Amino acid sequence: MDAARLKQSWSLVCAHGDQVPLFFYSTLFLTHPETRQMFPTNMAGQRDRLVAALGHIVSHVDQVDRLAGFLGELGADHRKYAVRAEHYPAVGEALLVTLRHFLGERWSEELAGDWAAAYGLVSRVMVRAAQAAQAVNPPWWVAEIVSHERRTFDVAVLTLRPRYLLPFTPGQSIGVSHPTVRSWRYYSPANAPRADGTVELHVRAAPGGAVSSRLVYGCAVGDEIHLATPVGDRLTLGSAGSADLLLLASGTGWAPLKALVEQVAAEGSRRRVALYVGARTRGEFYDSEAVEKLASSFAWLDVTCVVGADLHRPGEFTHPVDRALVDGDWRSRHVYVCGADEMVSHSVRALERVGLHAGQLHHEGSGRHWYGPTWRTAVARASAADTDGDAR
Ligand code: HEM
Repeated sequence: MDAARLKQSWSLVCAHGDQVPLFFYSTLFLTHPETRQMFPTNMAGQRDRLVAALGHIVSHVDQVDRLAGFLGELGADHRKYAVRAEHYPAVGEALLVTLRHFLGERWSEELAGDWAAAYGLVSRVMVRAAQAAQAVNPPWWVAEIVSHERRTFDVAVLTLRPRYLLPFTPGQSIGVSHPTVRSWRYYSPANAPRADGTVELHVRAAPGGAVSSRLVYGCAVGDEIHLATPVGDRLTLGSAGSADLLLLASGTGWAPLKALVEQVAAEGSRRRVALYVGARTRGEFYDSEAVEKLASSFAWLDVTCVVGADLHRPGEFTHPVDRALVDGDWRSRHVYVCGADEMVSHSVRALERVGLHAGQLHHEGSGRHWYGPTWRTAVARASAADTDGDAR
């Protein structure tokens, strides 16, 4: 298998932009109509989540050993789309037909052989991991909504009771889908694991977001939704050891940090925790009661609420980190940041400027989406490790 030839041919195909997913999906759905129902009803616009990843990952087959852990998680996670081993050849065929179409005269028997072998290798890792996961976890958990509160116009707090225990670590994300929507969105539980197994989600309806709109506006107590295997460790407490913490939250980014506070409480903590919760206006603090309850329950916890917009200073905005940096010196703490992309990047820049280093800063990166950045990051890391190896 010639890895350089695979990568080069994929970049030639990518130059055709949106035509590529369009052609791939038409081929797949025409030749294998049974796969259509796995994909979201609305495939318009920015719905190309599979094709870009597929070509990129398969063309990096020379890193398959380094990518094995990631591919295993991906394969196990694909069970939530109802993907089974017999669907892999269908996607492989559609991929090859797409490549042949866009490469035209550059397509050759050798290239066809290389792509087929690379796809075979990658899909074998995914299929094996999916089969192993089958013995441990269901493909998804059915959960009943046991409470649904609209706290502001576009934010709802839901309590869910999964039919079987769904183990997770505070700070992880859980894929959530509504049976009628067929697409998944990730949310972090707003609680540490409870004895009754219930999970609290804080959901803001995103413009055009099929899952989030359904959860906020179109669900009621008694409805059933689907939850996927918890993933991610960027916001979990593991890598902070027993350090004191600074938690910076804005909007529904408060959810995973609330779970961390509950975890620290359950540890019978000796650490100090400073929590800054931000919102644009006073009316947007959708969970004040819970914040106040935690603040009054624990001597080790200091809570500050930060209203970002000031009517008297239009155009200026105060983020939680701006207030925190006025209040104290946090260089000995581990910091967890969760909120909108802009709030996270502003906070990270401000903390780095005052001397905190990357190992102390915990956030999910842009997108607050566990997978989106992850497949790119996983491949980039595997490639970087390869370059390091060559250099030594
Ligand atoms: C080598 C094989 C494959 C690779 C590397 C791969 C990779 C990916 C990645 C990285 C994503 C985006 C992350 C996510 O949303 O989970 C994705 C999404 C998806 N994949 Fe795969 N996949 C493969 C095979 C398949 C197969 C065989 C099927 C079944 C027909 C499938 C169905 C899907 C679906 C339904 C989505 C969600 C698409 C959306 O929401 O727009 N994948 N895949």
